[in-house]
Amino acid sequence: MTDGPRTGRPAIHVRALREPDLPAATRIMRQAFGAFLGAADPARFMADRNYVQSRWRADPSAALAAVIDGEVVGSNLATRWGSVGYFGPLTVAPDRWDRGVASRLLEPTLGLFTAWNVTHAGLFTFPHSPKHVGLYQKFGFWPRYLTAVMSRPVSEAPARAAGRRYSGVAPADRPAVLDACRDLTALLHDGLDLEREVQAAAAQSLGDTVLQGDPGRPDGFAICHCGAGSEAGAGRCYVKFGAVRPGPGSAARFERLLADCLSLAASRGLAHLDAGVSLARVEAYRALRAAGFRTVIQGVCMHRPHEPGYHRAGLFVIDDWR
Ligand SMILES: CC(C)(COP(=O)(O)OP(=O)(O)OC[C@H]1O[C@@H](n2cnc3c(N)ncnc32)[C@H](O)[C@@H]1OP(=O)(O)O)[C@@H](O)C(=O)NCCC(=O)NCCS
Repeated sequence: MTDGPRTGRPAIHVRALREPDLPAATRIMRQAFGAFLGAADPARFMADRNYVQSRWRADPSAALAAVIDGEVVGSNLATRWGSVGYFGPLTVAPDRWDRGVASRLLEPTLGLFTAWNVTHAGLFTFPHSPKHVGLYQKFGFWPRYLTAVMSRPVSEAPARAAGRRYSGVAPADRPAVLDACRDLTALLHDGLDLEREVQAAAAQSLGDTVLQGDPGRPDGFAICHCGAGSEAGAGRCYVKFGAVRPGPGSAARFERLLADCLSLAASRGLAHLDAGVSLARVEAYRALRAAGFRTVIQGVCMHRPHEPGYHRAGLFVIDDWR
């Protein structure tokens, strides 16, 4: 894949991101976010967090590199949650910005969503940036609700016993648990499936998945990343995705799920529990506030098509598509 003629500009080639590219892609991701957000030392920005490597390992066929003159200058990693797809981190080396590199990466990203039969696609971005919102609008995404990335201290382990954890489920029983989690998420959005995320957390030792109630028919589950080298970062536990069975009693189930996440964080000696939620999920956001969470950063989720998907009132779901 090469771009068309751009007067005076070198050709941008887009191909699969390969294992030997990972150090360069990781370096560019830190530099790009560090430069955009004005970090004092962009090269060390988010140095304790793992996004590129872990997402590549979860599905190398979903990772793309942009190359100019043989040099990796940007990358994008797509994520497949069944019928739902999102992408990121999308990053371009700062000295290559505004030359169409990200746009070239987005074309085949949308091709992946088509090949996966994704019916609801999205991304998390910076609402204050006309460039970001304009870039994604060019590809059919539309900004919807703010998403709050929230945090609370993990002062001590909650008194109640922790729920079951995926790591404690016998290997022979794991497929049934994954099926049961899929049945639960299908109630939130047709075809939503977090199996890859549960397995990535387990296979790469990124964290663990909390299972609430009967693992054969859970009332809720939460995929948690723990500490340095995961998406959480040092000293933190990050709920990458959490949800409870919708319907009567879901608010109480959500409270219990949060307690189970706190318990996991405490058992790992982590000082903070982080969780993101769309403000479209009014009740879930209020429940997080009531549970002591405060917003640390805000982004906006952009959707394609311009529809709520599972970002809607009444659903107790945690995720932020970062
Ligand atoms: C965001 C980022 C990936 C963009 O990469 P890039 O290669 O510079 O982007 P491109 O040159 O392909 O596209 C820029 C597009 O922004 C849009 N844009 C820029 N300024 C705009 C404005 N004021 N209003 C509307 N649209 C605007 C345009 O659509 C433009 O495309 P066009 O020139 O074809 O019209 C890059 O700046 C980056 O790595 N930033 C730091 C990390 C980051 O923020 N990543 C994304 C997280 S969601």
